[in-house]
Amino acid sequence: MALGVISTRLKEEENRERDIRVFENPEELAIQSAAKFSECAQTAISERGAFLVLLSGGSTPVGLYRRMTQLKLPWDKIHWFWGDERMVPPDSSESNYRGFKESFLDHVSVPAENIHRVRTEAGSPEKIAEFYQTEIQKYFPGAAWPRFDFAIQGMGNDGHTASLFPGSQSEHDSPRWVIAPYVERLEAFRISVSLGVLNSTRVVMFLVTGEEKAEMVRQILRDPREHRGLLPSQRVAPQDGQLFWFLDRAAASRL
Ligand code: 6PG
Repeated sequence: MALGVISTRLKEEENRERDIRVFENPEELAIQSAAKFSECAQTAISERGAFLVLLSGGSTPVGLYRRMTQLKLPWDKIHWFWGDERMVPPDSSESNYRGFKESFLDHVSVPAENIHRVRTEAGSPEKIAEFYQTEIQKYFPGAAWPRFDFAIQGMGNDGHTASLFPGSQSEHDSPRWVIAPYVERLEAFRISVSLGVLNSTRVVMFLVTGEEKAEMVRQILRDPREHRGLLPSQRVAPQDGQLFWFLDRAAASRL
């Protein structure tokens, strides 16, 4: 059962609202995030005829992805893009594409042309980022920034989201839609949408579970001054959209 909305619409700035919801456990969080996904999909499809989604990698959204297989939605009107990808082939156990394929795509009938994975086989990280930006641009011709309908975000213990890791702020602020940051800590390149893409999205939904993330959740949601608001997850605040933080009880234990 949901513990409820502990803090609704904390007004931070004009048009920048966040809605923090805390649920009993990861399973309840998966149920409720699938319900939010479904509601937003239906609205987008009835208003605009399609639902364009940015997916997250990592383990947290897997429960949501599995739940989504049970939704009755017009899958031919939903397009799947990735907010970030690792520099590995699509069949690698590290691949965010593979994670989503195994938890969702293998169980639902989705037209192949609706799946927009990052082509990590395309060459250098720069080249891959460029190709991916071109793929996204097909859906937002002539736009300054893409306007995705929905972004599912995870958060790392260090406050990273997508593949925007702390310490590379100017790169995250790139006018490019897709960047190829080198992540020192991982000694690897990643492919990621830039901050401007996330902040142009209509609905952003963070999913965070587990006690080990509770301190970072506190710092981000309760005491942004600690990092002067500079952690990538703190900087996600859609300009003209909605921001949800779905937490389980353990992740919210220090709020
Ligand atoms: C990735 C991500 C990343 C992830 C966080 C949280 O490709 O790794 O998209 O931003 O969401 O690292 O990961 P967990 O859910 O596994 O804790």
